[in-house]
Amino acid sequence: MKGPSRIASSSSFPVTSTSDLLDRWLTAVLETPGLTALRDPGEARRVLLDDALAGLELVRRFEGPIVDVGSGGGTPGIPLAASLPNSEVTLLEAERRKTGFLEQWTDELPNLRVIWGRAESQVTDCYKVAVAKALAQPPVAAEWCLPLVEEGGAVILWIGPSADADAVSLVAAKIAGELQESMPGFLVLRKTGPTPPGFPRRPGVAKKRPLA
Ligand SMILES: C[S@@+](CC[C@H](N)C(=O)[O-])C[C@H]1O[C@@H](n2cnc3c(N)ncnc32)[C@H](O)[C@@H]1O
Repeated sequence: MKGPSRIASSSSFPVTSTSDLLDRWLTAVLETPGLTALRDPGEARRVLLDDALAGLELVRRFEGPIVDVGSGGGTPGIPLAASLPNSEVTLLEAERRKTGFLEQWTDELPNLRVIWGRAESQVTDCYKVAVAKALAQPPVAAEWCLPLVEEGGAVILWIGPSADADAVSLVAAKIAGELQESMPGFLVLRKTGPTPPGFPRRPGVAKKRPLA
């Protein structure tokens, strides 16, 4: 399986403004059945676009390929790809129907690629940053994301107010990771070494038998 590649800093975008592209993407997410339960356009903008961009400065700290795990209709990956044209952004999504929708945006965003598959079945240790929003309970999301990231890279989890940072910290310690920062809305984990033997566990196991 092929891992991510680095995007040359000279990559240029077709002449379409970023905000126009993101507006069209947001409209398409709302109009496509099965991508979001949100119906109100204002609420959808806040949850799918503004919340995604709230993590932009955190992601920007790490230079290299980004993977959005469980991208759904494309958040946070599409807003990040539009805002970081020199970073390759991979949208990893387990549902084939959703990847069909995501693939429609790769013509306009040359730094975007889409993979249909589960986090537990991917090549490990090859991304600089893994991001995940509403993927699973944070300890499970951490277990799925950490193996994808190389040593020195990071996992950035979009979290709700009830997220258990201590549980995430316990999980991270088992997968060569550590909780680096906890702030409202986000947890940042650092990958401190290569993925240890035994990870990722088989598809489905992390949810059935969480590590913490
Ligand atoms: C609740 S949706 C969130 C989608 C998007 N990130 C958002 O915030 O709107 C979770 C998505 O993760 C995908 N997913 C669940 N488990 C996964 C796994 N192990 N690997 C890849 N994708 C997964 C699901 O198919 C679903 O589209």
